Amino acid sequence: MPKEKLGVLCSGRGSNLASIIEAIERGDVGAEIAVVIADKADAYALERARARGIPAAAVVRKEYADRETFERALLDVLHGRGVTLVVLAGFMRVLSPVFVHAYAGRILNIHPALLPSFPGAHAHRDALAYGVKVSGCTVHFVDEGTDSGPIILQAAVPVLEEDTEETLAARVLEQEHRIFPEAIRLYTERRLQTDGRTVRILPADEGGPS
Ligand code: GAR
Repeated sequence: MPKEKLGVLCSGRGSNLASIIEAIERGDVGAEIAVVIADKADAYALERARARGIPAAAVVRKEYADRETFERALLDVLHGRGVTLVVLAGFMRVLSPVFVHAYAGRILNIHPALLPSFPGAHAHRDALAYGVKVSGCTVHFVDEGTDSGPIILQAAVPVLEEDTEETLAARVLEQEHRIFPEAIRLYTERRLQTDGRTVRILPADEGGPS
């Protein structure tokens, strides 16, 4: 089976990117990162990629007239690198249906809450404001909505009375670094079977060509 070629989209620090790189280097995930793209020229994720010899590109939103031309530029880079799976690792933009259709069923996102609770850009703030006792993170397929696609993996963490956004984010992030590479591994092993909203995880010996 040819190796999956990942295109990782980031907006900032890139700690999830780092966890994916490390999982690939350990041999846990049989994929290669074909390119890392950030929507900001100074995203630290780009430096992380370059330091590992991974092609990295900035596609800066404000340099494009509208979302359509911006997304077309993203797609040009992804197609140019032969990307087969798009991984949103802290990419803080909602992609339009045009982009989602171009990689239908082949876009994964990590969100720092237990979806469908607290979608959007301020998950930890929203979770603390609501007073939940448990939060966590979700890896899901991307559909046309915001943080609404079929759920692949989730992990829960306790919310403590003394938590701030930062302490809760740090606790959740540890779990993100565990379940995101795991979800990518399951995808590359063709072990994710989607039926409507439900993603079934096939046993290791039942994975196969998609
Ligand atoms: C992560 O916590 C990720 O779940 C979140 O941004 C952070 C990026 O950190 N994503 C979202 O909130 C998307 N709505 P990282 O750059 O260190 O991976």
